[in-house]
Amino acid sequence: MQNIFLIGFMGAGKSTVAGWLNSRQGMRLVEMDQQIVQKEQMSISEIFETKGESYFRCLETGLLEELQDQKDTVVSCGGGVPMRQCNVDAMRRSGVVVYLSAEPETVYMRVKNNHDRPLLEGNMNVEYISGLLEKRLPAYLAAADVTVKTDGREVEEICLEILEKCREK
Ligand code: S3P
Repeated sequence: MQNIFLIGFMGAGKSTVAGWLNSRQGMRLVEMDQQIVQKEQMSISEIFETKGESYFRCLETGLLEELQDQKDTVVSCGGGVPMRQCNVDAMRRSGVVVYLSAEPETVYMRVKNNHDRPLLEGNMNVEYISGLLEKRLPAYLAAADVTVKTDGREVEEICLEILEKCREK
């Protein structure tokens, strides 16, 4: 099975989908945020606070480079990963890039009680989410080989659509 890189806004369902593909399809799982937290021994919020966002972005790029030789792997990317062209190039070199789309209202409902997303702290509202999503959308769409909607859908249905679309690639 070719590698699958899941991209999309915070709360788009990347981790949930990756978990399903891991447990039901036996794909190896890489959760980028989690790997970075383990490596740095700090939460994402702490990394942003003490080292800064650009340091975090470099960690993401470094991790993607390390993943180049993986096979049969689903990678749940941080929401900002496709904002760097070098990250997009790295993902496209080694797998299919799947954009999980979600409306701002859906994102808000999914993330509102979580406090380890520094970009949303103090900005936890639909208007802010909508604005940031609008800014990022062109990059998400340009990076994607495949797009799958997640609003109001069960994880299994989403995953089956991903697998079918990836098979066609
Ligand atoms: C970010 C998304 C987060 C995490 C960090 C920054 C972003 O990951 O990497 O808080 O820039 O969109 P999730 O998309 O998994 O929430």
